[in-house]
Amino acid sequence: MDLSLYPPNAELVDGRLTLGGCQVADVAEEFGTPAYLVDAAGLRQRALDFQEALASRHPRSQVLFASKSFPTPSVMGLIADTGCGLDVAGLGELLAAERTGVDPSRVVLHGNAKSDAEIAKAIEMRIGYIVVDNLDDVARISQQATEPVPVLLRVSPAVDAETNPAMATGHDASKFGIPSHQITDAIERIRRESMLDLRGLHAHVGSQILNVDQFEQAIASLAQLERFDVYDVGGGLGIRYIPSDVAPTVDEYTQRLVGAVHRHLGTDVELLIEPGRSMVGPNGLTVYRVATVKRGVRTHVAVDGGMADNLEVSLYGQPFDPSIIDKTGRVEICDVVGRHCESGDTFVAGHELVEPEVGDLLVIPATGAYTFTMSNNYNGALRPPVVFCEDGRARVAVRRETYEELLGRDVRKSSS
Ligand code: LLP
Repeated sequence: MDLSLYPPNAELVDGRLTLGGCQVADVAEEFGTPAYLVDAAGLRQRALDFQEALASRHPRSQVLFASKSFPTPSVMGLIADTGCGLDVAGLGELLAAERTGVDPSRVVLHGNAKSDAEIAKAIEMRIGYIVVDNLDDVARISQQATEPVPVLLRVSPAVDAETNPAMATGHDASKFGIPSHQITDAIERIRRESMLDLRGLHAHVGSQILNVDQFEQAIASLAQLERFDVYDVGGGLGIRYIPSDVAPTVDEYTQRLVGAVHRHLGTDVELLIEPGRSMVGPNGLTVYRVATVKRGVRTHVAVDGGMADNLEVSLYGQPFDPSIIDKTGRVEICDVVGRHCESGDTFVAGHELVEPEVGDLLVIPATGAYTFTMSNNYNGALRPPVVFCEDGRARVAVRRETYEELLGRDVRKSSS
């Protein structure tokens, strides 16, 4: 088993997979499957690595974790406790940030359709910046503020990101931010409002970006505009999902990014980045149990989860690299599928597994980002727990949903 896609504290001990010193099989037994497992120490270290890599090259900087990639106070708090700030989009994430106890001045609020309630809460908490996405934000903030609110303006850097079109956000036709030909007017418009204190610009080119040139292009494009004191260049750094993927390291990424900032924007600006996927993705894995093995035209190995706990395949065609753990034997070519009522609920087709049998444990690495986020109740699935594994101890960060919770919101009660 190749562990290069696994979290740093994953190991094979006597042929058995461990994470943070915990046997994955024991964790699965104790907390059930499917379950999201997090290498807590690995994640903490990753957050420190990001901060060190950025601050050593540009001291006036801040790493804001993009909460949307794993929006729960336990994960957000673990990262914030290392010194990172939090980027939130929406009131739910803002309340989660508040729950972590993070210094509000290290929180940034996004959203292309912000509600009055979100803006009111952000003002009440005195967060670092509200990112103005559109002119309606300008009106909403002005109406509610009683003293000038620090804001950034999200602009289109006019970069067509090489990624899945659903994740490309840096082009002029994007629903996010101000298109390039309207930026100057938007800046003037904000400056006319006494309750908005425009400190700088924000740009996010997209997600799962593997070519660092694109970040450099975005920074060069921001330099076409007047100079500001603050630049938030978003997130987007891609990660490896399968063995053949090649992804930039945090060092390569920050070096190129800071180089471009120094060349184009200057050495004294405040620089913010918002990594999500690259922070949590490699530090998580999902553990399932094999529920059925059907040897027909193809061999379908079905697990006890699927597109309810991982939408990446269905939404973006993202391939994964599942393995049956704690087992040796003959390799068989299989389609690894989920338990949901769609043929598209397939993790990977034509994949090598070791002698799959009902009851085996199957693990998928690199599932730390956006899986918990987009988990759902398709076919009545219960959303899985999040378990932190560290120092030989497994502890629940988020417990599994219950059937009472699943059915509890419907007003029709049992007639018996
Ligand atoms: N900042 C902003 C303003 C964003 O919109 C995003 C992601 C990030 C930061 C973090 O980007 P990251 O470092 O994670 O690439 N649902 C998709 C991902 C959509 C990302 C949306 N915005 C998925 O499941 O892959």
